[in-house]
Amino acid sequence: RIVMLNGAFVDAADAKISIMDRGFLFADGIYEVSAVLNGRTIDNAPHLARLDRSLKEIDIPNPYSTEEWIGFQNELIARNGLTEGTVYIEVTRGVAEREFTYADDLAPTVVMFTQPKSIVASKLAETGAKVVTVPDLRWARRDIKSVALLPQVLAKQAAARAGAQEAWMVDEDGFVTEGASSSAFIVTHDGKLVTRPFTRTVLPGVTRLAITALIAETGLVLEERAFTVTEAQAAQEAFFTSASTFVAPVASLNGTPIGPGKPGPVATKLREIYIQKAL
Ligand code: PDD
Repeated sequence: RIVMLNGAFVDAADAKISIMDRGFLFADGIYEVSAVLNGRTIDNAPHLARLDRSLKEIDIPNPYSTEEWIGFQNELIARNGLTEGTVYIEVTRGVAEREFTYADDLAPTVVMFTQPKSIVASKLAETGAKVVTVPDLRWARRDIKSVALLPQVLAKQAAARAGAQEAWMVDEDGFVTEGASSSAFIVTHDGKLVTRPFTRTVLPGVTRLAITALIAETGLVLEERAFTVTEAQAAQEAFFTSASTFVAPVASLNGTPIGPGKPGPVATKLREIYIQKAL
């Protein structure tokens, strides 16, 4: 496996990072994940725009231009012969003596790798996902794609132990913020789609944005507002979106079947259209 480390393509076994890297010591860094289909990135421009924004928000200089990022992604995809999966980018503040404060002239550390994954042919899309809820224990700037993912690691592990494939995180008022690695949607009994607006409480999901555009194109109605776990359990349908799953229908939430307990027509249709456009 070939990975990219600070602009060089090297074998994964030879890619070495300092133990003094601030990404390791402080989770002082950000990341991005773009989907790859037929060897091409999907919705990549907004992913790279969000990468740039995440870096700006935590005061790390963006080491590369958009064109350079695209060049690295494409070369990595080609070198690894990736047809379907994801391409991962991480940028940390760099290497320094362990101090909380940082010098302005640190050189960011950049790591990129690909992961093969079958996204189009997905068992989850056929059966619908089991989802459980967990308290949202994250910090107040969830709009930044930070590598500080401990709350999501614990949420996903709790979900897996409960036999579920995703965890929906719930704020102190009982409202769903989003999935541990996805944006959350429900479909009401009168056919409206509901998802949380983009504020600092959630990551501005690239797939969610693409899906909301599709919703408008297909004449469906979107309501951008928060919804509770109770409302979701009583919904007609539910689904979640991300670069690594596209649109994943939800079969049950905390053991309660959503609608008929299998993928609903709205989620299925949006998934189909999204994949068709991506292919
Ligand atoms: N996660 N919300 C959270 C908390 C996420 O981590 C993600 C993506 C999303 C969906 O965003 P997008 O549609 O841009 O992928 C929403 C990636 C896939 C990950 O952590 O692997």
